[in-house]
Amino acid sequence: MPLQSDFQQLHQLLQRYRDYWQLMPFAQQKWPWANPRLQQRVFSLTDQSLAELDRDPETRQAWLIDFFPELANLPALPLLSAFHEQPELPFWLQNGIPGRKVGQISQFCQRVSDSELPVLEWCAGKGHLGRMLAFSQQRQVQSLEWQLALCQQGQQLADHHQLPQQFIHADALSEQGLQALKPKQLVLALHACGELHLQLLRSATQQGCQQLQLVPCCYHLIPHHHYQPISQHGQQMSLTLSLHDLKLAVQGQVTAGARIARLRAIEVEWRLAFQALRADITGQPHYQPLNSVAKQIFSGDFIDFARWAAAEHQLTLPATLDCDAYLERGRHHARLVRRIELVRHLFQRPLELWLLHDRALFLQQHGYQVELGTFCDASLTPRNLMIRASKR
Ligand SMILES: C[S@@+](CC[C@H](N)C(=O)[O-])C[C@H]1O[C@@H](n2cnc3c(N)ncnc32)[C@H](O)[C@@H]1O
Repeated sequence: MPLQSDFQQLHQLLQRYRDYWQLMPFAQQKWPWANPRLQQRVFSLTDQSLAELDRDPETRQAWLIDFFPELANLPALPLLSAFHEQPELPFWLQNGIPGRKVGQISQFCQRVSDSELPVLEWCAGKGHLGRMLAFSQQRQVQSLEWQLALCQQGQQLADHHQLPQQFIHADALSEQGLQALKPKQLVLALHACGELHLQLLRSATQQGCQQLQLVPCCYHLIPHHHYQPISQHGQQMSLTLSLHDLKLAVQGQVTAGARIARLRAIEVEWRLAFQALRADITGQPHYQPLNSVAKQIFSGDFIDFARWAAAEHQLTLPATLDCDAYLERGRHHARLVRRIELVRHLFQRPLELWLLHDRALFLQQHGYQVELGTFCDASLTPRNLMIRASKR
C-alpha cells in the first residue's frame, strides 16, 4: 500500500505543477507560468549564483520551497541495508575501471544478499559488477552483453583471474535474452537504459526469476514517442510523458569543470542567438530544434556556428550580419531560459521517483516483495536509486 499511496502522491504533485516542468525551456520566449513572485525571486539571482544553486539540489529546493511546499514531503527513500561489508578489493580487480564506477560497484555488491542463487548480470558492459561479485562472493555469474568486444574483454579478465564468470553474447531484447533468465536466479542490472531494463522487468516476471536488483537509468531511451507505463496503476494515471519530459528524470548534477561549464553557457547563448536569427530570416518565431554538434565549435566564432546552423536548417544567411546584436539577444534570452530551467529542475526527483514507483508496482503486481532505496551516495552517481525485489 505505501508504494501505491506514494505513487499517487507523486502523481498529484506532478499534475499540479505541470506548467512548471512539462515544457521546453528553450522554446519559451516569455514566462510560461503566471507567478510574478516566483519570477521576481529567480530574476533576483545573478547568473553565477543561479548556476551554483542549480548544481546543488538541496539548496535549490530549500530556496524555492515556499512556492512548492509539497516538495518537502516527497517519499523518502532510505539507503538500502547492506548485507555485508565489501572486502577490500585488490588493485588488480579495479584496474581499468573508472574511480566512481569502482565505488558504485562496491556499494552495489554490499547490497547483494548471500545465497546459492546463480547471478545473471543484465547489459553488463565488460562485466565489472559481475567480476567483483564473482570474486567477493565466489558465486557463479553470467554476464549478458550485446557488444562482442566487451564480452571478449570481460571474459579474458575473468579467465585471467580464474573467476567463475561467463559472458553471454546476446541481445537482451531478443528471445535469447528471455531464455537467459531462469526462475532460480538473482538478476542484477546496473545502469541498464530505458527499454533494456523495462524488457528485463517484463521478461524476468514472465520467467519468474527469484530475485532482482535493478538500478535504472536513461528512462527516455525507449522505442516510443511517449512513455507507456508498465504497472496497472501507472496505466490508469493520466500523465502523458514525452521523451523530452523523460529526459528531465536523468538530468543529474554532473559537476563540470569551469572550462566545460563556460562552453555550455556559450552553447546556450549561441543556440538562442541563432533562434532569433532564424526567426528574422524565415519570419517564423516558433522554436525549431537544432542537432547537436561537436563542442569545439563553441570555442570558435559565432559566425561559423551560424553558418553550420543555417545549413542544418537549409537557410541562407544574409550577406551582412550584425553578429553582436544577435549574440546580445541570445544572452538576454538565455537569462530567461536558465531561470525557467532552474524551476523545472525542482521536478527532476519527483519525476524519477514516479518512474521508479511504476517499475516497483509492476513487480509487486507480479508477486514480488519490493524495496526501494538508494544504493550509494549521489556523489558517486546521480542515478543512485535501486529496486530490490524477491519473489514471495
Ligand atoms: C550504460 S551501459 C552499463 C554497463 C554496465 N552495467 C555498467 O554499469 O558499467 C549499458 C550496456 O548495455 C549494453 N546494451 C545495449 N543494448 C543492449 C542489448 N540490446 N542487449 C544487451 N546489451 C545491450 C551496452 O552495450 C552497454 O554495455
